Amino acid sequence: MIKRFACLTVLAALLVSCTETPEKIADRVFDLASTQFVMLDSELGPEECPRTLAQDGSLVKTDIGWWCSGFFPGSLWLVYEHSGDEKYRTLADNHTARLEGLAFRKTDHDIGFQINCSYLNALRITGENKYMTMPELGARRLSDRFNPKVGAIRSWGDDSDSTFRVIVDNMMNLELLLSVSELDSSPMMMEIAQTHALTTMKNHFRPDYSSYHLVEYDTQTGNVIRKRTVQGYSDESMWARGEAWALYGYTMMYRKTLDSRFLTQAENIARLVMNRLPDDGIPYWDFDDQSVPDTYRDASAAAIMSSAFIQLYMLTGNRSYYRTADRQIRTLASDEYLSAPGENHGFLLKHCVGNLPGNSEVDVPLTYADYYFLEALRLYSK
Ligand code: GLY
Repeated sequence: MIKRFACLTVLAALLVSCTETPEKIADRVFDLASTQFVMLDSELGPEECPRTLAQDGSLVKTDIGWWCSGFFPGSLWLVYEHSGDEKYRTLADNHTARLEGLAFRKTDHDIGFQINCSYLNALRITGENKYMTMPELGARRLSDRFNPKVGAIRSWGDDSDSTFRVIVDNMMNLELLLSVSELDSSPMMMEIAQTHALTTMKNHFRPDYSSYHLVEYDTQTGNVIRKRTVQGYSDESMWARGEAWALYGYTMMYRKTLDSRFLTQAENIARLVMNRLPDDGIPYWDFDDQSVPDTYRDASAAAIMSSAFIQLYMLTGNRSYYRTADRQIRTLASDEYLSAPGENHGFLLKHCVGNLPGNSEVDVPLTYADYYFLEALRLYSK
């Protein structure tokens, strides 16, 4: 009798989770984010950004130089947009202003992530011109890293390096260039972004559309020297977040340029990902880890993919992309992945993997998982 009651309760919970509308899911998660993020903010000093949790559960903070410094301000802007509550605008503005020191930073390509999620959301949501200067400065820093011989933007290091290193993650930084090109009507940034995307399309992908993480080029000749991984399981494996960046990157390139070559690439990547995702839509941290299914899932890759799939659906009308995003979002919004109120120092999502080979950020919350999940929900609930 007790067993039957438990079964009925589980069935009822399953039914509710399948019938909850996208609007209700979005409202539920945004409501949670609004209280969680106030808690997270209360633990930060005036120049600090949240990063993750340590293995002992304590909050790990960082300065603005860390590649993720734009995601918390970006998430706060999305909460402000959803709620209309001025308290979150003030918070978002405060965390965005912390990034001003990045204006002249040119040590890596991450300026795209940092400025795009923070300032460009601020500009889109408020329309205030004061948010334009940083994207313009950031796009200049990023385009300074472009090498015409290689046809790409350097991800890491500088001219003193023996090779020119480009990671697939760099596709994400191109949105900053394309947005600035739209704002100031100059074609130069657009040309750099298109060239980088085409070079990456040529050299980063295997015939099945899985992506290498890192391609090293000869700086002088532009020839490919080596293809390998840094954060994946092996050089030839399909690292889940790298594939998520690739899917999002080419979807974004098509959204911004309407060049059909980028749509074809995005759809080829999408087909591979959909074929290989587990039933609940959350990828293992690397699709080719030999320990699958006894290894970690990566909720950050799922969140990035879900936003890309929703965008791809909006661009093509293909329902299979919507169904994939729907599956991922419903799993991420379940107790398995979503923090309970007051849990995890104010992060939203659990079970992400930053860098497993580096034994860093394994099975923890990460700011970019929260950001892309909220971005996906914003589009999903429309
Ligand atoms: N470098 C970005 C990432 O870890 O995905």
